[in-house]
Amino acid sequence: MLQLKDMCSGYGGGEILHRVSIEVPPNSAVTILGRNGAGKTTALRTIMGLCRCASGSVTLGGKPLDDLTPDARARMGLALVPDDRGVFGSLSVRENLEIAQRKKSRWQIADVYDLFPRLKERQNNAGNALSGGEQQMLAIGRALLTDPQLVLLDEPTEGLAPIVVEQIVEVIKDVRKAGISLLLVEQNLSVCFAVADFHYIMEDGQIVHSAATADFHHRRDLHEKYLGV
Ligand SMILES: Nc1ncnc2c1ncn2[C@@H]1O[C@H](COP(=O)(O)OP(=O)(O)OP(=O)(O)O)[C@@H](O)[C@H]1O
Ligand SMILES: [Mg+2]
Repeated sequence: MLQLKDMCSGYGGGEILHRVSIEVPPNSAVTILGRNGAGKTTALRTIMGLCRCASGSVTLGGKPLDDLTPDARARMGLALVPDDRGVFGSLSVRENLEIAQRKKSRWQIADVYDLFPRLKERQNNAGNALSGGEQQMLAIGRALLTDPQLVLLDEPTEGLAPIVVEQIVEVIKDVRKAGISLLLVEQNLSVCFAVADFHYIMEDGQIVHSAATADFHHRRDLHEKYLGV
């Protein structure tokens, strides 16, 4: 479905990502793991068209995305849930959702409320009155309203209490069950193993290892070497 081939990108003149190749097959969930500053967010931003891909290619369903704006990529079925969640603090939950709503989408606000009853309960609360977990649900809900085929999730469980992390894991599993593929950036290994089938480890802007969950979850040596856990 999504294919990155030798993707190089960065900010201004500086190259941050060096020949990154990643594949997300249809109906799958894949992670990018790596320490702080490895380039994980830059990879998601480049896929979404927010950073320029200097060389190499990014294709979705075989179609090259290189010349497309972030909006055009969204219309092709990509959605990014950014690491800061991007919730409008002064707007209510409902207003945050209404902004993202699309008439022809398979996902309407009522569907988002079915998936996240908590958001329905809090629909009149301001974005900045939500807990971290609720903000994450709202950010994912907004992404769903754009009718994505593939959601790019940037550290959805960062800074959340363990019980809330478990809730977000269930939410991510539900999104998958709805037939949406995921590319997940995450530093919490147990989250990665709970929701994804295949993992790429990034270090200094390069992919240094990739493996299926079954081959990777017991590899303490790799967890220590690349992730420091
Ligand atoms: N807007 C920017 N301008 C210039 N350099 C940047 C910018 N954003 C990030 N960088 C640099 O790019 C490199 C990769 O950053 P990136 O945010 O992609 O890493 P990350 O793996 O997502 O880290 P974290 O786990 O802390 O979120 C870092 O060296 C960072 O300093
Ligand atoms: Mg990041």
